[in-house]
Amino acid sequence: MATVFRGGSFVAWADEPVTALVVEDGLVVSHREGPADEVVELAGRCVIPGFVDSHTHLVFAGDRSEEFEARLAGIPYEAGGIHATVAATRAAGTAQLTASAERLAAEALRSGTTTLEVKSGYGLTVDDERRLLEVAGTITPHTTFLGAHVPDGDGYVALVTGPMLDACAPLATAADAFCEAGAFDVDECREVLLAAQARGLDLHLHANQLGHGGGVQLAAELGALSADHCTHLSDADVVALRDASVTAVLVPAAEFSTFSPYAPARKLLDAGVTVALATDCNPGTSFTTSMPFVIALAVRMQQLSPVEALRAATEGGAAALGQSDVGHLRLGARADLVVIDAPSPTHLAYRPGVDLVRQVWRGGQRLR
Ligand code: NIG
Ligand code: FE
Repeated sequence: MATVFRGGSFVAWADEPVTALVVEDGLVVSHREGPADEVVELAGRCVIPGFVDSHTHLVFAGDRSEEFEARLAGIPYEAGGIHATVAATRAAGTAQLTASAERLAAEALRSGTTTLEVKSGYGLTVDDERRLLEVAGTITPHTTFLGAHVPDGDGYVALVTGPMLDACAPLATAADAFCEAGAFDVDECREVLLAAQARGLDLHLHANQLGHGGGVQLAAELGALSADHCTHLSDADVVALRDASVTAVLVPAAEFSTFSPYAPARKLLDAGVTVALATDCNPGTSFTTSMPFVIALAVRMQQLSPVEALRAATEGGAAALGQSDVGHLRLGARADLVVIDAPSPTHLAYRPGVDLVRQVWRGGQRLR
């Protein structure tokens, strides 16, 4: 069964011109019109790759709107706020956590996200972290163990690298840690990530979010797939990311919600660093699942062109997850695509807050 998309424009990140898109068996098989069983008339609309949201904390209970209101009154964000969500999450049943995560994943899909990474990190006990990863595994194959989110009691790093990793590594494809004052220092993060790497997990790191620290350098040293946040970077940090081919995952919606400066996206791109955009969806710093909102922020606040922002939100996200079959619509790609009700991706930033997503397809199946 072949489906042809025709009569519009196409962003595929391909070298050759794309005049139509043919999808068969869930894959992109042609960039020119050919025989098909099903025709999607685009009527001038634009097809883009599905968004790859490479950084979310979707599995949690409770909300922290009061903390957000306190920020409006001038109280700065601190890592310690995580404990409020940990308490609510531990108290919640698994069915409730699953329902909430599914609702957020459905919300993300409606806004065009076809690949989603989901972290644990609001459990902080062996059983709760395992439970969160089990929930995450019901909504995505890209699950990240974030037991090292904030310390919880004496000997916590030994717990994370020992029994917690034993229980969680089989349920995760990657590991992450929060390298920050109030969370874990560079040596603690190195210990956690080396233990995870020894189990075959890919590495991410929350780095340089709240201040200049050694997180980015550690991500480069360990060959992590990504360094995430990157809000406060020195010139040496930028060079380290480039030289180690670490993707910088930028999360401007977190900066929006925490009243922080925006990460130097322009500087990273100009230096040749691979940049990804992600939502960081979580109840503390960024309670949004909307990649179009993130793109609008990157264009307006971080000096990316609309095309650069879209590329970071698609192919950049795929790089951050180590996936080569998504984030683009080149021949052989998984047919994950979005039809936007606009003639070009510029409208994603030009019409902020407007739902332009007309159709969402994943693996050749229409889901919206
Ligand atoms: O990515 N920085 C660490 N983790 C989250 C925030 C977690 C929270 O405050 O609940 C983030 O911003
Ligand atoms: Fe995060």
